[in-house]
Amino acid sequence: MTELNIAVIYFSATNVTANYAGAIQKEIEKLNARTSLINITPFDSRKQGQKLDTYDGVIFGFPVYSDLAPSVVNEWIDGLDGKGKKCAMFFTYGGRTTGYAHFHTMQLLRNANFKVEFSAEFLGPHTYNVAGWTALTGRPSENDYQIVRDYARLAVECFSAVHESEFRLQKPFGYNTVMDSKRNPPVKTERGWTNPTRVVEECDHCLLCETECPVNAFDSETGLSDFKTCISCMHCVYICPNQAIKANEGMKAGYQFFLTDWNLTEEMMSAKKSRLITESWQAAA
Ligand SMILES: Cc1cc2nc3c(=O)[nH]c(=O)nc-3n(C[C@H](O)[C@H](O)[C@H](O)COP(=O)(O)O)c2cc1C
Ligand code: SF4
Ligand code: SF4
Repeated sequence: MTELNIAVIYFSATNVTANYAGAIQKEIEKLNARTSLINITPFDSRKQGQKLDTYDGVIFGFPVYSDLAPSVVNEWIDGLDGKGKKCAMFFTYGGRTTGYAHFHTMQLLRNANFKVEFSAEFLGPHTYNVAGWTALTGRPSENDYQIVRDYARLAVECFSAVHESEFRLQKPFGYNTVMDSKRNPPVKTERGWTNPTRVVEECDHCLLCETECPVNAFDSETGLSDFKTCISCMHCVYICPNQAIKANEGMKAGYQFFLTDWNLTEEMMSAKKSRLITESWQAAA
């Protein structure tokens, strides 16, 4: 029998999803399958089409941004052709909720002609910890890694099996209304507290902030992000070697509003568990 060959494709701005993707890759390789790790975070990496013909299965791993995978990821999926290939999804999130991400991404992948087999969600530090939040700083835990091992085993079983499984997710409550409102977002007219700028003079002009921004929104000359296109992923803040780029001052204080707004405590977030999702009822928003 030929060796199973699996692609692990991920988007990751502050390395949470990248770390999970890498851990999944390692566990799959322990099960004697081959893997390729493909990072679709940089703008240019999503310009050329993705050749997937040689893989027996594809794993897609994305962070949750406001209840969905990042908008740029959703647009990228639209341009793929899965040619009936099996795939699995996983999402990382910062302790609030995965919202509609499982259902919505499953629909997009099906429309792109993939056969979605199962999903999972993993907890990790919130992106905005780069600006002083303290959500889930201690994750991944040993329990999270156990789910990584379970996920890898399931992927190998699913992608090597000839039998047809049927993965169905129920449409989450309120999905249509939320999607309608997201289709016509209000036009941004000013810089928000999640649009970073360079605040420290020391800049080596390494251009990383420009070349690695997932949406080409950072201008290393002016030190400003374009607030109309910036998706607030914090990658520029995370990678600047001089820590010269920061989110707005108000961002740190925003953590208290976040907790109050969502009726959350740090204890409640820490108690959440990573999990596999193989049945409809597990993914309810
Ligand atoms: C714009 C934005 C929106 C987010 N929305 C959510 C959310 O709806 N629920 C949640 O729990 N975490 C949310 N997060 C946190 C990220 O999902 C989480 O930290 C993720 O693991 C980051 O992965 P990465 O480092 O691979 O980019 C959001 C982060 C950003 C930047
Ligand atoms: S990543 Fe930092 S050091 Fe490099 S060009 Fe951008 S602001 Fe300057
Ligand atoms: S400019 Fe915005 S979109 Fe680009 S890396 Fe920075 S936070 Fe992310």
